[in-house]
Amino acid sequence: MPRLATRLQGIAPTIFTQMSALAVRTRSVNLGQGFPDVDGPPEVIARAVEALEHGHNQYAPGPGVPALRQAVARHQRRHYGIELDPDGQVVVTTGCTEAIAAALLGLVDPGDEVVVLEPYYDSYVAMIQMAGGVRRSVTLRAPDFRLDLDELRAAVTPATRFVLLNSPHNPTGTVLTREELTGVAEVAVEHDLVVITDEVYEHLVFGVEHVPIATLPGMAERTLTLSSAGKSYSFTGWKVGWATGPPDLVAAVLAAKQWLTFTSGSPLQPAVAHALDELPDWPAALATDLHVRRDLLCNGLRGIDGIEVSVPDGTYFVTTDVGALGWDDGMAFCRALPDRAGVVAIPSQVFHDDQRGPGRHLVRWAFCKTPELISEGVARLQAADLTA
Ligand SMILES: Cc1ncc(COP(=O)(O)O)c(C=O)c1O
Repeated sequence: MPRLATRLQGIAPTIFTQMSALAVRTRSVNLGQGFPDVDGPPEVIARAVEALEHGHNQYAPGPGVPALRQAVARHQRRHYGIELDPDGQVVVTTGCTEAIAAALLGLVDPGDEVVVLEPYYDSYVAMIQMAGGVRRSVTLRAPDFRLDLDELRAAVTPATRFVLLNSPHNPTGTVLTREELTGVAEVAVEHDLVVITDEVYEHLVFGVEHVPIATLPGMAERTLTLSSAGKSYSFTGWKVGWATGPPDLVAAVLAAKQWLTFTSGSPLQPAVAHALDELPDWPAALATDLHVRRDLLCNGLRGIDGIEVSVPDGTYFVTTDVGALGWDDGMAFCRALPDRAGVVAIPSQVFHDDQRGPGRHLVRWAFCKTPELISEGVARLQAADLTA
């Protein structure tokens, strides 16, 4: 087997695919994979159709369509007061996934250590490995999943070059506070680290503020910020993302990107520019709506004996501990769940290094679904025998 495939063999890439296929096969309510079941704004879709029909069908410039780069710069100014030059400080990517890949491939040298929050979005593991980097995990622990700054400091060694942050955080729903981020910033400045921050859920917060770490003192020049339109505008299938930050870091992303995709699909870019410029409040309205759906799911899960709910401050997801139901681990629980209850969820242990470690009894549920679907899922769970 080729060298890269061998290295990646240990990574389980298909839990979402497996679980979504299981949901279809068993006609289960899919509270597993994080995609909304209602699309984003129709006028944005109309813009994409218009672009398809009116000549936006050839290669976009490598860094992205200028209108979108300008709209991303305006978005960062409008929401956070961050000033960016759209020529040189913004690059459009094929979803945040490509931004993550290009950032790590473009910046990490073999042997460089990258401090990552565990549980982690699974592409981080694969991409750090592909870049030849070394992962140093700092675990957010149940039930409150806060960042332990002493653990973060202890994870830094002379080989550490990067902190890979994710806030709001998938899968725990933790939104790092200004104090926590200030602690991270102090460590970064002290050890001269670059922070790569994945902020795809930046607008999906419930009554707390999202603080981009790039806005903290001393951080603009050492932070590469990644995001996308997928979560903010409920277009997860569009895969339009971006990386922003100092010109040298953005240039590194662009350098790797040109050998990954060269340029990202052109017709969706003007539509996303329209969304960012003309519908700047749409994501906040989505968050208000998601807040209600979060409570619907959390209250329903709380009504089940043996399930401990950690209420999230952001994202699409709530994490529960199912240990008191008697299961050996969350994977066994999730595999049994479709037959027991007709519901699909994701075992959080797949987001941890040690499958028998701190994520062992944790299960992630998505509430980016219609209230009807969430209520149906909850009713099925409440009616089922969920004990091991
Ligand atoms: C933390 C995190 N980062 C990145 C992504 C991927 O974003 P995109 O769909 O824009 O590639 C996701 C999607 O689930 C995510 O949860």
